[in-house]
Amino acid sequence: MSKDKLWGGRFSQPTDTFVEEFTASIDFDKRLYRHDIRGSMAHARMLGRQGIIPQADVDAIVAGLEDILSRIEAGTFDFSVSLEDIHMNIEARLSAAIGEAGKRLHTGRSRNDQVAVDIRLYLRDEMGEVMDYLDRLTDSLLFQAERNLGVIMPGYTHLQVAQPILFSHHMLAYVEMFRRDRGRMEDCRKRLDALPLGAGALAGTTFPIDREFVAAQLDFPEVTRNSLDSVSDRDFALEFLSASSILMMHLSRFSEELILWSTSEFDFIELSDSFCTGSSIMPQKKNPDVPELVRGKTGRVYGNLMALLTVMKALPLAYNKDMQEDKEPLFDTVDTVKGSLKIFADMIREMRVKADAMREAAARGFSNATDVADYLVRTGMPFREAHEVVGQSVRYCIERKKRLEELSMEEWKGFSDRIGPDIYEAITLEASVNARRATGGTALERVRAEIERLKKGADTG
Ligand code: ARG
Repeated sequence: MSKDKLWGGRFSQPTDTFVEEFTASIDFDKRLYRHDIRGSMAHARMLGRQGIIPQADVDAIVAGLEDILSRIEAGTFDFSVSLEDIHMNIEARLSAAIGEAGKRLHTGRSRNDQVAVDIRLYLRDEMGEVMDYLDRLTDSLLFQAERNLGVIMPGYTHLQVAQPILFSHHMLAYVEMFRRDRGRMEDCRKRLDALPLGAGALAGTTFPIDREFVAAQLDFPEVTRNSLDSVSDRDFALEFLSASSILMMHLSRFSEELILWSTSEFDFIELSDSFCTGSSIMPQKKNPDVPELVRGKTGRVYGNLMALLTVMKALPLAYNKDMQEDKEPLFDTVDTVKGSLKIFADMIREMRVKADAMREAAARGFSNATDVADYLVRTGMPFREAHEVVGQSVRYCIERKKRLEELSMEEWKGFSDRIGPDIYEAITLEASVNARRATGGTALERVRAEIERLKKGADTG
């Protein structure tokens, strides 16, 4: 039996206890308490300023909400399931504490616009944190790129050795991805940044409210323009989940590479012991658990995006209770993305790069074959013809278990008389890397300049 309901007037029967539990969101939406209180304070101040409620009531409301805030933060606030959600838990407690004034707080407002403003305030803060973590990860990548400048590794296509590249160039590829992720967060924060409060339940309110004043109090640069849309829109949450899904996709690709590079077959890097675990049976094992887990957590973020898209699909305007299901996927995504970025930033900073193993792998697999072809092109041979000539020399080398740079001058001449002794210096790993000097290439000077540009926070748009 629940007599404490704030909406009990119309009802003659008490809510079934299981229905109460089933429909309640307090177990998870209590996370919104700070934002709910902040929104309520701004609303109350506006009501007072507009003469809708007495100033004395505003003072009592603000003081009462401050008290509730400190109780929740101290862990002494009793949340009640029969009060359904964070909004009614706080409001009921406020009225119990300050009486009549507390009961005036909800004037000109509905939980529909209240929850909309709460989630926007919450997500706006969290997006800021996600961006900070992205910056930290970028810093770690730049740190490794700078520290290992000059280290050569094989670049791959189809996971087959393709051409030698700088390890730093590989790190900067991830910097590009994470900077785009940051840009996506910023974009979606811009669209989120409008005040929905004042929409009431769906149609607006009969009271002479001042939405612009509330917006200014809550640092929203504008107010939403349609009350129906204001309470039924969750695009900002979907955009955050989409941006987060792409971000996690990037982390999963990075994870996969770190896992491969940690194998004894590659042996390109060593992750610090604090990011790995052992096996309970095989004493030799050191497992890259952190990247594996992040790779796995990508699935839950994609799932969260699908969950909310499906919740919102075909919902009629305006608010529907279905939308209460927006919170858990959002909260889970915030936790997953922040946790994954934080742990990656630290793990990358502590990663040890095995330059010799990378170099040795780069020298295998005929990674300089394109450079021989380019050499021939510079003598005037058409590229397609050069490709054919080098293809034959690679096959010759495979049969004799040789590398291209081990062919004698006579053997080279057998493939083309255009090849002279300067072929040897043209196809070293360094020459191969440093010849790729155009913007975006892997040449040492190019990568060094890119690191400097990125350290200054350059816009990669
Ligand atoms: N707990 C609800 C939610 O999260 C708050 C809004 C409820 N509005 C309503 N009319 N029942 O969506």
